[in-house]
Amino acid sequence: MFAIVLAVAGCRERTARPAPRRASATSKRGEDEFLPSRDAYAGSEVCADCHQKNHDRWAHSWHARALAKATPNDVVGNFGGAHFHGESSEAWMRKRGDAYVMRTRDRAGKQGDFDVSYVIGAKRMQDDVTVFPDGRWQVLPVYYHVTGHGAWVDYNEKKQGQIGPDHPFFWTNFRRTANKECLECHTTGLDLRYDRATHAWRTSFVDAGVACEACHGPGARHAETKAKEDILHPGHVAKDVQLSLCARCHGPREPIFPLLDAHDQFRPGDRYGDKFQPLVVTDSTDRSGEYFADGRPSSSSFEYQALLQSRCYLAGGATCLSCHTAPHEDHERDDLKPGDVCLSCHKNLAPDHGHHAKATCVDCHMPPTLSGVLDKFADHAIDIPNPLNTVRHGVPNACNVCHADKSPQSMQAAIEKWWPSAPARQRRRLQLADAIDEKGASMSLAALTAVVRDASEAPSLRGAAAQLLGQRFPTQTPSVVIPLLHERDALLRTRLLESLGYANARANAEDVAAFLDDPSVEVRQAAALVLASFGDARATPALQKLANDPATRGLVRPHIALGIAAARRGDFDAATRELTVAVDEVPYAIDALVLLADLDARRGNLASARNWLEEALRFNPSHRGALERMRMINGKDVGTGFSRSRDGLKPVPTLTGTRARTHLPQ
Ligand code: HEC
Ligand code: HEC
Ligand code: HEC
Ligand code: HEC
Ligand code: HEC
Ligand code: HEC
Ligand code: HEC
Ligand code: HEC
Repeated sequence: MFAIVLAVAGCRERTARPAPRRASATSKRGEDEFLPSRDAYAGSEVCADCHQKNHDRWAHSWHARALAKATPNDVVGNFGGAHFHGESSEAWMRKRGDAYVMRTRDRAGKQGDFDVSYVIGAKRMQDDVTVFPDGRWQVLPVYYHVTGHGAWVDYNEKKQGQIGPDHPFFWTNFRRTANKECLECHTTGLDLRYDRATHAWRTSFVDAGVACEACHGPGARHAETKAKEDILHPGHVAKDVQLSLCARCHGPREPIFPLLDAHDQFRPGDRYGDKFQPLVVTDSTDRSGEYFADGRPSSSSFEYQALLQSRCYLAGGATCLSCHTAPHEDHERDDLKPGDVCLSCHKNLAPDHGHHAKATCVDCHMPPTLSGVLDKFADHAIDIPNPLNTVRHGVPNACNVCHADKSPQSMQAAIEKWWPSAPARQRRRLQLADAIDEKGASMSLAALTAVVRDASEAPSLRGAAAQLLGQRFPTQTPSVVIPLLHERDALLRTRLLESLGYANARANAEDVAAFLDDPSVEVRQAAALVLASFGDARATPALQKLANDPATRGLVRPHIALGIAAARRGDFDAATRELTVAVDEVPYAIDALVLLADLDARRGNLASARNWLEEALRFNPSHRGALERMRMINGKDVGTGFSRSRDGLKPVPTLTGTRARTHLPQ
């Protein structure tokens, strides 16, 4: 059999073929030993050997073009001498022989020519990526807007306002390093390494773009056995597994295990909640700019977070594949299934339900109100048009998209006339907006409490409301949250525990400690971190257990928390040990790097302290704490500087707000 596979498969060049091979055809040892591991990727070219049609169709899909080498086939931008001049950046695009080149300014303000090595996307826009000598892939400052009459656009300026070289999103800075920030969702089989000694990144992947194994799981073993058991069929798995495999890329999230921990990365077949926490409404403390005041995402690429809030998902179990299909199956635009995707579930609507000759289901229930810089995207929260929330909270509604000349009040009046039962359904979003909108924060207690307690509400929204409750109303939080702690949804349990952390509810430490053995990793971790923030004695053994258990050793927060605790005790060796583990896992955990510098400085090892600080500044050249300490070391002003540095330990321990992204990047 093997010879046949080899003969068929061998005619193509391919990137990665699994190493383990049959040693001898007559061996008596178990068959299994000679097959590729279930984690081994084959690459789409190998799949094509037996699934030619699927491959050819996929190759023309947008998924396939999520990342591509900069060749004439894939570059869509105008490189014929185009010029862009914005407030934050200036760029000149031209060709030099076969190469595409962008001339722009670096951090020091010096103009240089940067070769475009890769491009990302092409449907609506295309980003250009240049590769630096140290292996960093940097996203160049302007992108080409395909659907915007071919304009070049500075995305960061559009999103963040004018930015200078010190801004984290300046194009040469770490937040624009694609290896860490983009490739996880734009490649297949990513393997990312960082070498601290040489400060160099090594990046490899099996396929550029979203290829077969991103949706079907690593397939080297299946490519040899051809067995169904060795590959995932998204149409034949449990609904939550099916949803997870798309969700993993279609919405921003915090990985539970660090990106460089290859062993613990998500694979199709996994459940989302075991690997990620979705970012919903709050970005640790404030409402994120990517959400409307009523809790719906306001940006594109949040389809998962949006769908989780819909009744179609909550009551109907809809997944992405209820409406979309594989890129290699017959489909309409946007990979939609042929036919009317809504009526497959909503058969019994009144024939005149819409009261309009031309408006479609999507026009009213998935209106194009989300922004992706210049484009508008469909709202996957699939809700009832709600002009009252436009009046009260500035949230756009479907009716006024078409009736832009009418007031939202008149639209609400028309709704109540045509759809008398509408107000009952609209109440849900009105309450969510009353709860979430920071403008009414001081009056939001009743609404927040109602959302947290509402068993029919989306767990992700109840969790976000719990966080806001803990921050805005610490004294009232325990009485609302404690009776709910045994909720089935692990994300909700996590957020409820965190709300007690925000509320600093030390009197409830016992209730928190009851979750140190929860079946969910994220819940166990949250319980331990909240106890640590209370200064509770049970925290340290719980954190040690997480840090030592092989199943959770890859988590980084326990190591950081243990490091901080040890430093507080004055046990600098233990602190250094834990923090070193943390930065081995997350080399760009800047606050941990600065803490390591503090520890060395306090022990008089200034050379090593300087190394840690230099490393921190590599990831964020304008990190205030690191710059300040560097100045002290250089000015030998260490005596006063580092003796006050007990306070230097303070910025990090916001561990109750465990998702504070700037503090604890994954
Ligand atoms: C050597 C030929 C061969 C190669 C290479 C191959 N497959 Fe298959 N694949 C098959 C055959 C044969 C079946 C049908 C199995 C059956 O029906 O029992 C199949 C079935 C499948 C199925 C459906 C499984 C199911 O449960 O019905 C998927 C999905 C799949 N392959 C994906 C892939 C992917 C992805 C790759 C590349 C990593 C790949 N295949 C490589 C031969 C191959
Ligand atoms: C590994 C990450 C990843 C996975 C897994 C993934 N996607 Fe995507 N998806 C992307 C990216 C990136 C794009 C944008 C590609 C581009 O335009 O170049 C995209 C684009 C799309 C589009 C727009 C395509 C079009 O033709 O207009 C749809 C629809 C979509 N994905 C649905 C899904 C569904 C459904 C699943 C699960 C079966 C899924 N995706 C799995 C990353 C992913
Ligand atoms: C964006 C996700 C995605 C990508 C990328 C993808 N598939 Fe699929 N594939 C699916 C989904 C979803 C189904 C199930 C479709 C259904 O049940 O209607 C499927 C079904 C299949 C099947 C079984 C049904 C059939 O068409 O025979 C095979 C085989 C398959 N895919 C092979 C491949 C190969 C080979 C590639 C790469 C060339 C690939 N797929 C890329 C999502 C994907
Ligand atoms: C969490 C996964 C994820 C990450 C990380 C991610 N993307 Fe995407 N990206 C997507 C998805 C999914 C889409 C498809 C658009 C949508 O869902 O509306 C997309 C679309 C795009 C598009 C539009 C493609 C087109 O054809 O119009 C560009 C350009 C892009 N991403 C660039 C980037 C860059 C640059 C980064 C890093 C700074 C990045 N992405 C990080 C998931 C991701
Ligand atoms: C109830 C049906 C339905 C479900 C469920 C659904 N979608 Fe969609 N999706 C649509 C429709 C309809 C459109 C096109 C809207 C329009 O006309 O612009 C769309 C568009 C998209 C687009 C294209 C964005 C763009 O404008 O380029 C992406 C990407 C996408 N969906 C991803 C997903 C993902 C991922 C999921 C699962 C988390 C999902 N969808 C679930 C119906 C659905
Ligand atoms: C997988 C089945 C399924 C699909 C596909 C589906 N829905 Fe639903 N949807 C449901 C169920 C079940 C409910 C809950 C019943 C109810 O609230 O009356 C629901 C509720 C709704 C509601 C009421 C929302 C609310 O907050 O009260 C609207 C509006 C809706 N769907 C629109 C759509 C549209 C538009 C589409 C197509 C783009 C669609 N649905 C596709 C199953 C589905
Ligand atoms: C012109 C706007 C408009 C159009 C078009 C429209 N709807 Fe609605 N829909 C509404 C309003 C307003 C409500 C709330 C009224 C209510 O609850 O009775 C609603 C309620 C619903 C509900 C929940 C109440 C129920 O009767 O089950 C569902 C499901 C639904 N729509 C699905 C659809 C589908 C599917 C389509 C396309 C065939 C569609 N709608 C077209 C405005 C519209
Ligand atoms: C896709 C665009 C679109 C959407 C969305 C839409 N309408 Fe309309 N509406 C129209 C058009 C076009 C007409 C003209 C006659 C027709 O097509 O029925 C109209 C007619 C009307 C009329 C008749 C009086 C007039 O102004 O001509 C009312 C009232 C109305 N719409 C209210 C609503 C309400 C309320 C909603 C939201 C629930 C809504 N519409 C959503 C396009 C839209």
